[in-house]
Amino acid sequence: MATQKSTPKIKALVAGNWKMNGTGKQLAELRKLMTAVGRRKPKADIMICPPATLLSRMAALKPKGVALGGQDCHANIAGAHTGDISAEMLKDAGARAVIVGHSERRADHDESDKAVRAKVEAAHRAGLTAIMCVGESLKQRKAGETLKIVQAQLRGSLPIDCSAKNTVIAYEPVWAIGSGLTPTVAQVEEVHNALRKALLRRFGDEGAKMRILYGGSVKPTNADELMAVPNVNGALVGGASLTAKDLYGILKAYC
Ligand code: PGA
Repeated sequence: MATQKSTPKIKALVAGNWKMNGTGKQLAELRKLMTAVGRRKPKADIMICPPATLLSRMAALKPKGVALGGQDCHANIAGAHTGDISAEMLKDAGARAVIVGHSERRADHDESDKAVRAKVEAAHRAGLTAIMCVGESLKQRKAGETLKIVQAQLRGSLPIDCSAKNTVIAYEPVWAIGSGLTPTVAQVEEVHNALRKALLRRFGDEGAKMRILYGGSVKPTNADELMAVPNVNGALVGGASLTAKDLYGILKAYC
C-alpha cells in the first residue's frame, strides 16, 4: 500500500540488521528477496547487513537491487586487534555501508560516543556509508531525557565532515528493539524532527538531505504508519529482516 511521504526528496533506505543470526542456509532469504524485488521494485534503497561471515558469500550472489553492509568496524585500518574487522575489510568483502554505535554495541562493548565517532571516521576513510545509531533507554524516556540523550549522542558520535552520502542516522529507542514495543507516531516525529534540526544546524544543506531511519520492532504491520512520519526516511530492521517475506512486507510501504 502506498503511503504519503512527507519528505519526498530523500530516497528512503530500508536496511536489515541480521545481528548474530544466519549461516549459509540463510542465503536462501537473500535469493527470495531478490526475486520479490525483481517482480515489484520498491521506491526505496534496500540493504542487508549480515554477519561478517556471510558478507562475501552474499556479494558473490551479485544481489541486484540489494546493497550489503557490515554491522560494526574497528577504527583502525589493520593491526593487532584479534577478532576485529576494519572498514576496509568490510569494503573488500562487498559492503557499501556499516552500522556503527548500535545500542547493543554501546551496551555490550561499552562503546562511548568518542569510540563511535572514530568508527564513523573509519567508515568514511574506507569509502563506506556509516549508519550511526542513537536512542534512549526506557529509564531515560521516563525521565523526560530522550531529546537530550539523542542530541548528545549525535553531537558526540559524528565528525564534522559528514555528508548525506556518507552518513545515515538511525533512531532506535533501546526499549523498542526486539521487544515488540514501538513509540507512538507522535513520539517518533518529535525525535526525528529534533534530529533533523540538529543535523541542519551542524551540517547545513547536507543535514537537510541526510537520511534518518527509524528502528525498533518495525514489522510489516506497522511499517506503513511509521514510514509515513515526517523526517522518517526509512527503517533499520532487526528481527523482521531475517525472512524475505517480512522484509519485503516492510518494503511494501514504498511500493
Ligand atoms: P528489531 O531490531 O527490529 O528486532 O527491534 C532493530 C535493530 O536493533 O536494529
